[in-house]
Formats: sequence, C-alpha cells, structure tokens
Amino acid sequence: MPDTKDLFDKISNNYDLLNSLFSAGIDKIWRKKLVRNFNNDSFILDVATGTAEVLVEGFTLSKINMGLGIDPSIEMLKIGRDKLLKKGLSNNTSLFKSAAENLPFKDNIFDGITIAFGIRNTKNYYRSLTEMHRVLRKDGTIAILEFAIPRISVFSSLYLFYFKNIMPFIGSLFGSRKEYKYLSESTTEFPQRDVFKNIMSECGFRDCQFNELSFGIAVIYTGVK
Ligand SMILES: C[S@@+](CC[C@H](N)C(=O)[O-])C[C@H]1O[C@@H](n2cnc3c(N)ncnc32)[C@H](O)[C@@H]1O
Repeated sequence: MPDTKDLFDKISNNYDLLNSLFSAGIDKIWRKKLVRNFNNDSFILDVATGTAEVLVEGFTLSKINMGLGIDPSIEMLKIGRDKLLKKGLSNNTSLFKSAAENLPFKDNIFDGITIAFGIRNTKNYYRSLTEMHRVLRKDGTIAILEFAIPRISVFSSLYLFYFKNIMPFIGSLFGSRKEYKYLSESTTEFPQRDVFKNIMSECGFRDCQFNELSFGIAVIYTGVK
C-alpha cells in the first residue's frame, strides 16, 4: 500500500473534477444519502474529509449543525477549506490534519460520524473503526459510504472493466495513472457487504446495516454506538 497521504496530496488539484467525471455526478447523490442519516442539530465528525464534499452536502441539506473534518492530506484540506469559505460554510466547521487511526478527540463527543470513500484508504480498518466508536457518543450513528462490487454478474463485469482499465486511463490523462490504478485496486480488495458489516460489529457498533446504491456500485453502512 502506498503512502495515501502523498497520493492524495498529488491528486488533490484534480480530485473533485475527476470524481465528477468518473461517476457522472452520482457521487454527490450518494453523499446526500449519507448525510440524510443525521438531524439538523447534529455535531458531526467527517473522517477522511478530503475536499470536504460530505460536510458541504450536510450543511446544504441542513443535516449538520456543526462539523469537524479530519484528513492526513494537507493539500486536500486546503481545497476543502477554500471551498467551505467560498460557500459561506466556514463558520460552523473546522478541518484538521489527522488520521482515522489516531483521532485527537476525547471519548463520546460526536452525535454522528461520516466517512465517504475513505475507510478503504486507512491502514487498519479495525483500528480506525474502534477509534471512531470511541469518539462517538452513546446512541450516535456512524455512516460509511464505500464502493462495492455489484452482485449481478453483468454489472460486476462492467464495473471491474471500468475500474481496472478506464479509471487508470483517465487518470493518466491527468498525470496520475499509478494513483488511480491503486485507488481502483483498493476498491476491489475492500471487504464487501456482510463481511464489512461484521467487522463494524466486532469494533463495537450495534444495529449494523448496509444499503446498496446504484445497482450495488456503492454501499452505505450504518451502525450505532
Ligand atoms: C477518496 S478520498 C475521499 C474524500 C472525501 N471523503 C470524499 O467524499 O470525496 C479519500 C481520503 O482519505 C484520506 N485518507 C487516507 N488515509 C487516511 C487515514 N489513515 N485516515 C483518514 N483519512 C485518510 C485521503 O487523504 C483522502 O482525502
């Protein structure tokens, strides 16, 4: 596994553009679904916040009252901070450099935790989930958005072809073939559905569930402390 901080520093300038290109804009709809797990008075920690797309959706839909974002990539955070400032959303939020495996927060403080397309990039899912469980308050909800391999074979063949060939090719047009090849591979290696749901339970979450999005290309996992 490469150092994902360096990887995301490198691709940060084109990250939002390429996300929209790769998903034809569907990624925004998925993030909206993710933040709908929360109420308008929620204090949310967005882990692996990157360019702060989840926080933007949360504030825009009034599903977040106060938000903190953490991410180890300083270049992604810079873009996120500028974006929040430009959208007039910087009053109720702060972004910090930190990794999911070692969260710089006390126990039991957040009403909710979000993490979109980030859990597979953390070095140790168990450690990251355990840390997120620690900082979440009792009865608080975690909502995790991640890619998945569709279960219907025709979709999974198309999906794997797209991830293994088209994504690295488009990445190469932006000087980032190696980086997008890694991102594709990490997607296909990530534990799927019930396996990941069980990992969440092992890390202390209860009522763990998953909901498939867009023919199973992506999944939202939820759990409660
Ligand atoms: C694919 S981006 C997702 C960004 C954002 N959540 C979104 O929805 O677009 C993955 C992010 O995970 C971050 N990341 C990598 N390793 C991490 C770790 N150990 N802890 C927290 N975030 C990490 C990267 O820096 C990057 O910003």
